Amino acid sequence: IPVDPFDLVIFGGTGDLARRKILPALFRRFCAGQMPDDSRIIGAARSEMSESEYRDLVRDALAEFGKKHAEDKHAVEAFLKHLHYVAVDAMGDGGWKEMKALLRDEEGLVRAFYFSVGPSLFGPLAEQLRENGLADRETRIVVEKPFGHDLESARSLNEELAQHFYEDQIYRIDHYLGKETVQNLMAVRFGNMLFEPLWNAQYVDHIQITVAETVGVGGRGSYYDHSGAMRDMVQNHLMQLLCLIAMEPPAQFEADAVRDEKLKVIRALDPVDPDQIVRGQYTSDGSMPSYREDAENPTSKTESFIALKCYISNWRWANTPFYLRTGKRLSARASEIAVVFKETPHSIFGIDSGRHRNVLSIRLQPDEGMTLGVTIKEPGPGGMRLVDVPLDMSFADALGPDAEEVTDAYERLIMDVIRGNQTLFMRGDEVEAAWAWTDPLIEGWERRGDSPKPYDAGSGGPDDAAFLINRDGRRWRGIKI
Ligand code: BG6
Repeated sequence: IPVDPFDLVIFGGTGDLARRKILPALFRRFCAGQMPDDSRIIGAARSEMSESEYRDLVRDALAEFGKKHAEDKHAVEAFLKHLHYVAVDAMGDGGWKEMKALLRDEEGLVRAFYFSVGPSLFGPLAEQLRENGLADRETRIVVEKPFGHDLESARSLNEELAQHFYEDQIYRIDHYLGKETVQNLMAVRFGNMLFEPLWNAQYVDHIQITVAETVGVGGRGSYYDHSGAMRDMVQNHLMQLLCLIAMEPPAQFEADAVRDEKLKVIRALDPVDPDQIVRGQYTSDGSMPSYREDAENPTSKTESFIALKCYISNWRWANTPFYLRTGKRLSARASEIAVVFKETPHSIFGIDSGRHRNVLSIRLQPDEGMTLGVTIKEPGPGGMRLVDVPLDMSFADALGPDAEEVTDAYERLIMDVIRGNQTLFMRGDEVEAAWAWTDPLIEGWERRGDSPKPYDAGSGGPDDAAFLINRDGRRWRGIKI
């Protein structure tokens, strides 16, 4: 279904994110027929560049990142006709008049500005838009992560933006919310009768959230070294996954209804004991550089891996541990959530039948799908022996070839901006609450001067992360440590 026609300005329009994600996503939506003919995409950045130079840059980006659609040269050229470029100076006067002249004032035309720039420019850009008369009550702005570095900086970003825009005009991106399978978490929970009655402390033993990556931080070490896995992944992406898994059913699938419920989860999170946090840093495996080499900081104490156990203090989840882990340069790229149910209260088959638990694993990437571990009788005449077997479903197999090319998170999110739907975007208070939980943990290890534990590149992380869960009589599902 096509969206309304739009003028979308991308600040940072020549940058890495624009080239790798935003422009290819728009191109794929264009190929899907969702972008109306009279829509325009306006790249904006500091450097002087002609329109045709910008189109060349985007053509190259599509060839590299546009996947199979980019093989269709006609489609690429047709898409490029929608592109424009303006050189603007976020801190000065340059380019704003030209930008104003280019933007159209038409009934029903959506105007959106995508801030694909560092957070220090969010405030200045918002102010420029206002002062130059480029934004009205209907205009939307999209802001990328990182949204602040801690609670204080996030608060001041929120305040700066609020001087020029209302909350319902601000779209804070967490691209995990745009992933098909992340949205599927909500579909599975609230579209089925089967799971929700069991989705609580009475029946769930514990929950695991793993986001494992094989990439290192090479190339972005200077950003990452000031951030670390906690700020880069946990405060935003894993927190969002935790919220969707743990929240109460919202009354509607609607922006504030969903975000109110997520906020309640974050606010109910207990502080985490230092001995329930394991930080790690990858070492070199001989062929690839170590974290410290990637970060160009030989004494860095920044973590490229973190595992922690936390609790949500509310009726639904009291005393149910949530184990979170994420890291770079691990043995596999695998993100999954495992809901591990309790054992049956009594076994009628006697002790020989072993201990069994149902586990619902939701694979976010790659090979999106779900597995439900169920216990059945082991075949054969040997008596009543039980075994666990997977009821396995790959979304690609179940939904057919169309589902194979999973829509990229950015495609969904950008179209939601144009539709004016904020459900999959973070609200200001949500981001602040997440920092309010994260800050004391980071301050704790910084105060103590803790060093992360070294772990081998290509492994499953430091051994201590296995102890964290093993000492509770449990084990990590999915990739092994
Ligand atoms: C980004 C982080 O937000 O998410 C990166 O800054 C990380 O460090 C990336 O690699 C992971 O995203 P995805 O979509 O590849 O799981």
